[in-house]
Parts: sequence; C-alpha cells; structure tokens
Amino acid sequence: MVRLTLPAVQVADSFAPTPAGRLVVPGFALPAREVEIDELLVAKLLQAAKDAAERAYAPFSQFRVGAAVIMDNDPKNTIFTGANVENSSYGGTICAERTALTSAASAGFHRLRYLAVSVRDALHSPLCDRSPCGLCRQFMRQFCDPNAGNPSLIFVQDGAPDTMAQVFDIERLLPWGFHFNK
Ligand code: THU
Repeated sequence: MVRLTLPAVQVADSFAPTPAGRLVVPGFALPAREVEIDELLVAKLLQAAKDAAERAYAPFSQFRVGAAVIMDNDPKNTIFTGANVENSSYGGTICAERTALTSAASAGFHRLRYLAVSVRDALHSPLCDRSPCGLCRQFMRQFCDPNAGNPSLIFVQDGAPDTMAQVFDIERLLPWGFHFNK
C-alpha cells in the first residue's frame, strides 16, 4: 500500500459590485485528504486500460482511449474495461470511461473504487490532452461518494518513463459537479 495526500484547496469568495448587482466569484474549500492506494492493483488496472485502448473503435478521430475500473463491494475485484466507440453520427460516440463504467454498473456495481484511463497515442502530452472529458467526469460522479472514508480514485496515465499515473478524486477532477439528492 502507498499513502498519498490529495492537496487542500482554499480560495475565498470575491465580489465585484455593478449597477445591476454584485458579480460573485464563488470561493472553494477542500480539506487535504489522505488516501491509501493498492499500487499493484492500480498497476494492473492501468495495464488493462492500456490494452483496452488497443481495441478502441475510432475510425474518425484515430484517438484511441482505454479505461478500466474496479468497483467497491466486489469481492472478486473484477476489472471492467472499455474503449471509445465512435459513430458516423458523431453524437453517438461514447468515451472509454463511460463504456467501462456502464459495463460495471450493468453488472450491478454502483460505487467506483478505482478508474484508470489511458490514451494510445497521446502519452507524454499535457494533462489536458489526456484527462477525462466533462461528460465522463459527470458520469463518474454518479458512482463516487465524496464523503466516503475511502474515496473513489481516478488514475490518468501519464507516459513518463518513471510515472504510473496522475491521481485525482472526483472533487478535484469535477469541482461543482452536479449531484441530484433525492
Ligand atoms: N474520448 C474518450 O474516450 N474519453 C475522453 O475522456 C475524451 C475523449 C474519445 C471520444 C472520441 O472517440 C475521441 O476520444 C476524440 O474525442
């Protein structure tokens, strides 16, 4: 097991008065968070995501993405994988992260433990070129409980020779993410 600290974020509100009322930049506060990571499991998951990227169906963009997830409460630690699947309608395209999560959720698992994502040809590129899209972040949010003791973690493969991945929890990956509390 490896221990890491996800960083604290602390930004105060700021305001600008205008004749029509105040403009507000909402502040943001997240406490630092200690996490314990099963690095061997994550290495396996990253390899599964990398392999899944080989099976992407991306005839339009040629941008091949793979994802792999392990869900909480799965005693077998099943690795569910997915790849992006493009469609000639373009809008019908689905990202790798969502195919992997859809597969896990339809097997009955609804809380994410680890998600790994890998891109085939863009390793070593900046994080913004490899990081999950907004829709996938919101989709992940559905299966994350930010208040749980062991937060769901997202690993984005980096591609630097001595780097496994960059690590996020959902609050750092999707600040202000929508959540519908029934
Ligand atoms: N893609 C993903 O699979 N995951 C992301 O988070 C971003 C984008 C796919 C969708 C599309 O097939 C291709 O990458 C280019 O956008």
